[in-house]
Amino acid sequence: MRDIWADIDNVLIDEDALQARIRAMGAQIEADYADKDDLLLICVLKGAFMFLSDISRAMKRPHSVDFMGISSYGKGTTSKGAVQIIMDLKAPIEDRHVLIVEDIIDSGRTLDYMRRSLMARSPASLRICTLLNKPARREIDVAVEYVGFDIPDEFVVGYGLDFDEYYRNLPFIAVLKPQVFAHLLH
Ligand code: IMP
Ligand code: MG
Repeated sequence: MRDIWADIDNVLIDEDALQARIRAMGAQIEADYADKDDLLLICVLKGAFMFLSDISRAMKRPHSVDFMGISSYGKGTTSKGAVQIIMDLKAPIEDRHVLIVEDIIDSGRTLDYMRRSLMARSPASLRICTLLNKPARREIDVAVEYVGFDIPDEFVVGYGLDFDEYYRNLPFIAVLKPQVFAHLLH
């Protein structure tokens, strides 16, 4: 069996730091939405599934969740540019207070697309919460209300984020050894 742990170069954000930050983000969101009866968290699949489960449990207030499948990456580590909805929400969001929960904002294409397509459905409000942000890679300026961590321009995996569909189960955010990507560079 393949040893995914042997592919890790270094841990960028460990489990304790992730959990502490997520608890703080949950408290901030609860405070900001204190006067709203309604809150709907929309998880951007697949990468945000772990973040959604922890940020949801970090909040005691009532809220519901829904899921949206978005695809913009192929097998490599750079965006192909085209963003596609591959699984839509279960229910309408008209007049609801919506918070998009995303794993990482890189070029900004995915969240720009999501913001525009969800705004067209007339929510009562729409905000974005991302665990990670790579400011150096931004191509499209998207307003993001909640950011967990700003990180350097490095491809990261773990805690839901994948490379080639693996490494999502690592409980921390890590950088892979350069040789893991070697086969992509010919
Ligand atoms: P954007 O559309 O370029 O902002 O990219 C956002 C999407 O690309 C994220 O939702 C991730 O799924 C993926 N992505 C961007 N950077 C990374 C990374 O460092 N590791 C894993 N996935 C990434
Ligand atoms: Mg994603």
